[in-house]
Amino acid sequence: MRATIVLLPGDGIGPEVVDAAARVLSNVELRFGHSFTLKSWPIGADALRRGDPPLPSSTLEACLKSDAVLLGAVGDPEYNDVSREQRPETALLELRRALGTFANLRPARVWPGLESDSVVRADVIRGLDLLIVRELTGGIYFGEPRGRTDDGREAFDTMRYSTTEIERIAVVAFESARRRRKLVTSIDKANVLESSRLWREVVTRVALRFSDVRLQHQLVDSCAMLLVSNPGQFDVLLASNLFGDILSDEAGAVVGSLGLLPSASIGGKGGIFEPVHGSAPDIAGSDRANPVATIASAALLLRYALGAETEAATIETAIGEALNDGFRTADLASDGMAVTSCSQMTQAIIDRMGRNVGGH
Ligand code: IPM
Ligand code: MN
Repeated sequence: MRATIVLLPGDGIGPEVVDAAARVLSNVELRFGHSFTLKSWPIGADALRRGDPPLPSSTLEACLKSDAVLLGAVGDPEYNDVSREQRPETALLELRRALGTFANLRPARVWPGLESDSVVRADVIRGLDLLIVRELTGGIYFGEPRGRTDDGREAFDTMRYSTTEIERIAVVAFESARRRRKLVTSIDKANVLESSRLWREVVTRVALRFSDVRLQHQLVDSCAMLLVSNPGQFDVLLASNLFGDILSDEAGAVVGSLGLLPSASIGGKGGIFEPVHGSAPDIAGSDRANPVATIASAALLLRYALGAETEAATIETAIGEALNDGFRTADLASDGMAVTSCSQMTQAIIDRMGRNVGGH
C-alpha cells in the first residue's frame, strides 16, 4: 500500500509525540511492506513563529491532498492574548472545518494493569471501555454571531445546530454502537438549552432506524458525575462539540491519564488523527511526554483512513504489552516507580510490534 500522511507536530510536546508515532508508522511500513510518505508541515504557534498565519495555506493544501493527517498539539501560552485569527488553536478549528471531519471518535479504555493509576477506585473502572462520539465542526465552537459589543464590555457565542448536523453525527454514534455493546447515551442540556432540545428530538428520530441499538438520554451535568461514579454503564457517548470536549478530558482522568487517549476525526476528506491531550508546555522538550495517545492515534489512522486493521491491531497490542510489562511514563508512574521517557516508551512499543508480527 502507498499512502501520503501529513505530519503536523505543532506546539509544546507535539513534536516529540508525533516523532514517536512517525517512528511507529515507519516500523509498520517496514514490517508490512507498505510505502508511506511522511512529511511535516508547520501549524499553530510553530507557524506563527515563522511569520505565517496559524494555518498556513501550504499546510492546508498538503492536508487536503493527503490520505490522512497526524497532528500533535497546538497551543502556546505566548499567544494567550492575541486575536482569534492569530491564536494557534484557530488553526486546528479551521483545519477540521476545511477537511469536513465532523465526527470525532475518542475511545477511552482502561488498559489492564493500569487500574491503580486512575483517581477513581480500581473496582469501579476495571475493564472500562467507552467511545465518545463528539460532533466536531458545529455547535458553539463555530456558531454565529459571536464577538464583543462595541464597548468591549459584553461578549457572546452562539450554540447552534442544524437538524442535518445532528443527524449525521447521531448516525455515526449508532453505527459505532452496533459494533460494540449496542447502547448510545446521548448527552445534552435539554432542560435549559434550545439547541439541546432539537438535539434530543433528532437523535430520538435517528434511533428509530437502529432498532438493535438502545438509546438513553443524559443531561451533561449528571453525565459528568456518572462518568466518575459509575462509568461502566456507558458504551457510546454521543455529544456536541463543547460537551464532548469537556467529557473527553474527564474520561482521560478516569482511565488513568489524558496521555493515553487517541482520537480520530473522520467523515470528511482523509481524516485527522490526534491525541486528546494538548501541548503541555510545562514538560515540552524534556522527553517526559507520554507518546501512547499519539501512537494509538496512528493506529486509528491506519484503521480508519487506510483500512489497515491488522496493522492497527498490531500497534494496539504492542501498547498493551508495553504497559503490561511495567513501562510507565511520568504521568502514569506512581511514587517510587521507575519513570520511562517518551523515547524509551516508543522503543518499548516498537520492540513488541516485532514480536506480534513474527514472520514479517
Ligand atoms: C481538543 C482540544 C481542542 C478543542 C482545542 C485545542 C481547540 O481541546 O481537541 O479537545 O477544543 O477541540
Ligand atoms: Mn479538548
